[in-house]
Amino acid sequence: GESDQNVSKKNAGYYAAELVRDGMVVGLGTGSTVFYAMERLAEKIRDGMNIVGIPTSYQAECRAREYGIPLATLHDYTELDIAIDGADQIDPKGFLIKGRGAAQTQERCVAAASRLFVVVADVSKQTPSLSAPVPVEVIPSAASLAAKMLSAMGGTPVVREGVKKDGPVITDNGNWIIDCTFAEIPDPLALETDINNIPGVLSCGIFAEFTEKSKIVIGKKESAEIM
Ligand code: A5P
Repeated sequence: GESDQNVSKKNAGYYAAELVRDGMVVGLGTGSTVFYAMERLAEKIRDGMNIVGIPTSYQAECRAREYGIPLATLHDYTELDIAIDGADQIDPKGFLIKGRGAAQTQERCVAAASRLFVVVADVSKQTPSLSAPVPVEVIPSAASLAAKMLSAMGGTPVVREGVKKDGPVITDNGNWIIDCTFAEIPDPLALETDINNIPGVLSCGIFAEFTEKSKIVIGKKESAEIM
């Protein structure tokens, strides 16, 4: 049968899908937990609900197409009603680390455009403090400079390399990812701002700037609840 973690992800995803109402423009995040939200949205669409999805990655776009979710882009809509997205780590203040899927830049754009940012995650993503490597998307020509600046900020930067490709992972936007480990992240919002200001960096995976408009849905084995 399904693993407990998948059941928890499904509970989170289905909960989030119930927040979507007829006529909404919906940001579609990246990762396996959002897939469950899309699965439920597809059912609601078959039952007559009209929505438009704005995908945050090729992965989200492909899956949404399989599910028959009508799609548009941030050129069509710059104001979204809701965005549903996953997370890799969530701290007690609701600050996140995202970007395991290398999709954080488009995820950030969609989050910025959305009135409500709904985070869906299974309970294993909760952590007392952010400790995962911070993914940083950088234009290839600036990667060494960015790595030096990240080191100066106390980080340990490593260019992400491909599983099914030799050499650097290439993002959906044609860039590289530096995974940067920090011994501690005492001020996530400040670090997010500092990293995002590095020349050549598109954006990092710390998401602390959207907390005020966030709803965090934690999926457990039996149910989902708002953090
Ligand atoms: C993509 O870049 C990430 O930000 C994802 O949202 C994150 O990795 C969540 O994925 P899962 O839901 O598969 O854990």
